This record gives sequence, structure tokens and C-alpha cells, in this order.
Amino acid sequence: MSKITAAITAVGAYLPDFRLTNKVLETMVDTSDEWITTRTGIQERRILKDKDKGTSYLAIKAAEDLIAKQNLDPKEIDLVLLGTATPDMPVASTAVYVASKIGATNAFAYDLQAACSNFLYGMSTAARYIESGRYKKVLLIGADKMSSILDYTDRTTCIIFGDGAGAVLFEPNTEGFGLIDEYLRSDGTGREYLKIEAGGSLMPPSEETVKNKKHFVFQDGKSVFKFAVSNMADVAAKIMERNDLTHDDVQWLVPHQANKRIIDATARRMELEEAKVMMNIERYGNTTSATLPLLLHDYEKQLKKGDNLVFAAFGGGFTWGAIYLKWAYNS
Ligand code: UT7
Repeated sequence: MSKITAAITAVGAYLPDFRLTNKVLETMVDTSDEWITTRTGIQERRILKDKDKGTSYLAIKAAEDLIAKQNLDPKEIDLVLLGTATPDMPVASTAVYVASKIGATNAFAYDLQAACSNFLYGMSTAARYIESGRYKKVLLIGADKMSSILDYTDRTTCIIFGDGAGAVLFEPNTEGFGLIDEYLRSDGTGREYLKIEAGGSLMPPSEETVKNKKHFVFQDGKSVFKFAVSNMADVAAKIMERNDLTHDDVQWLVPHQANKRIIDATARRMELEEAKVMMNIERYGNTTSATLPLLLHDYEKQLKKGDNLVFAAFGGGFTWGAIYLKWAYNS
């Protein structure tokens, strides 16, 4: 029997309509369109304005987009994995709710949490289930309502993040397409630099935590930048090297969208020309778990069967890594 690999066979996405532009942010905090554009590459981000809608809303929409495009019977889905840093609630898995709402009544489901590496690590998890031969259809969703955890008076974080969701379907392949190799890393000494301090078991919610804004994202941007820039480039170079890939062999870099300067540095290290680098940070900002599937969605029509894709991400924790995947279909 030929080896089973886990191939991506469909993509879906959802972005809320409201666009928060740099110009509007100029009226909210002490910043400028020029600073944001040159330091990050971001021009606008999407925000889910409805107060009564959480991350599940975004995830359901992205999954429904995929299901409709693929004409998929949701009852055939075996597993729903949801990568998110902003679950609907701390307890009661958001993935389970999403699976029920999309009609995946024969699936089991659970959430994954590795900050901005959620989707990358999720690809690894999804692939293991498929490679086992036991599961045939794994739906991996990356979704975040980042606006729910941002302090819109803090210019160092509120300009960066946006809301959105993307979904991919993994299925078995016996022709050598799909996930080929992965190099995943983490380092717990990094958690001081990018975190939400309160709301967990270490610092439960209290009047004081609310008053001191401990439920919002804190980021020491300069330190995170330093780690991200070297580590993302390192893992991307490493995965190329150990799979004997030169820059000519790689058709696409699919990089986490945190900062255009980090993406450029990774591409330079891989010696990849700009046309091979997927980028949509200017339109969506950093959507945390959704950056990678949103790129696949935006570039899907340009992808060809057999293309070599290198995914790379870096996030809070710290968590980071790279994945080498062979694209399995023409749109
Ligand atoms: O996705 C998860 C992983 N996250 C990342 O990979 C993010 C990594 N970090 C970054 O992308 C960048 O560090 C930031 C975009 C967050 C910040 O850019 P930077 O070039 O590293 O700026 P900085 O923090 O070194 O700050 C430079 C200056 C400071 O002023 P002084 O001290 O030089 O006077 C900041 O106070 O820019 C100031 N500044 C701002 N100015 C205008 C910080 N934020 C802003 C702002 N508008 N929004």
C-alpha cells in the first residue's frame, strides 16, 4: 500500500465587513498612517463590530464557505480542529459549538491554542489524524476575534491586529501530495514578551485585573520582533535545506502576517523573489490564527497542483516553525 499523506483539498474564508483604516486609528491613538505603514505594512484591518458575536461566528462562516464551495456533506467530516487565541469562552470548547452549527454531527472537535502558530501546529495535528488512516476528512479552522482582547487606547497593539477566519479540509492522498515535512519549535522563556496576564489560573479575574487592563494583549514589540525575525527565517531555511529545496524549487512562501519586515527578512533568507511571497497584511493586519488560511484563500486561484509551499509562523509562547507542503489541486 502506498504511503498516506495529508493533502489540503479545499479552502474557505470569512472576513467581517467593517474596515478599520490607519486614518481612523489616527483619530483614536497617537499614531500616523505613515508610521504604521512603514513599520508594519498594514493599511487596514477588519473588525467584527457585533458585540454579541464571538470567534465561533467567524469560524462558522469560514467553514460554511468551504462546505458550499466544495459541495461537501458536513456529516462526512470526522474531526473539526479550531485554532484560536480568542475562544468564545474559557470552558466549553468553541470547536465543538462550531462543529454542531455547521452540521458536522458525526465529527468530534476540540480547540488548539499556540497563539500565532495555531494554524501551523494545527496543520501538523490534522496531518497525523489523516496519516493514521483512521480519519478521512479533517476540517482545520483558524479564527480569531482579536478586537475582543485589544485595548484601543494602546497604540503599540491596537494598530496591529484584526479579526478573521479561514478553513481548510485535509484528506488522504497516496500520490505524494500534501504535508511532506515539518519543523516545529517552542520556548517558554518567551511568554513574558507577548501575553494576556489575567483571566487564567495564575491570575483569575478580579476588580483589580480589570482596572489594571490585565485582560488585554500586552506585547514587548521590539523583543518579539527580534526573536521572530531570526527564528522564522531559521526554520524556513532549515526545512528547505533538509528537503534539498533551492529557491527555484519553492513556488510559494506562506508566512504568518505579523509584520512585513519579518516576512521580507524570511524571504531574503530563502532567496525568494517577492512574487513568490504570499502577502495580505496590508488589508487584514495580523489575524493571529487566520493568517495562513486567509493567504491560501486569497492565492488559491494561482496555486497549481505540485507547487511546493513553505509555511512559516512565529507567535506568543514563544511558538514557531515551518512546514513543507505539496499543493494537491488546480482550482
Ligand atoms: O504575531 C505574533 C508575533 N508578533 C510579532 O511578530 C510582532 C513583532 N513586533 C513588531 O512587529 C514591531 O516591534 C512593532 C510593529 C510592534 C513595533 O515596531 P518597532 O519598529 O519595533 O517599534 P518600537 O517598539 O521599537 O518603537 C519605536 C518607536 C517608540 O518611540 P521612541 O521610544 O523611539 O520614542 C514607540 O513608542 O515608535 C513608537 N511607537 C509608535 N509610534 C507611532 C510604538 N507604536 C507606535 C504607533 N505609532 N502605533
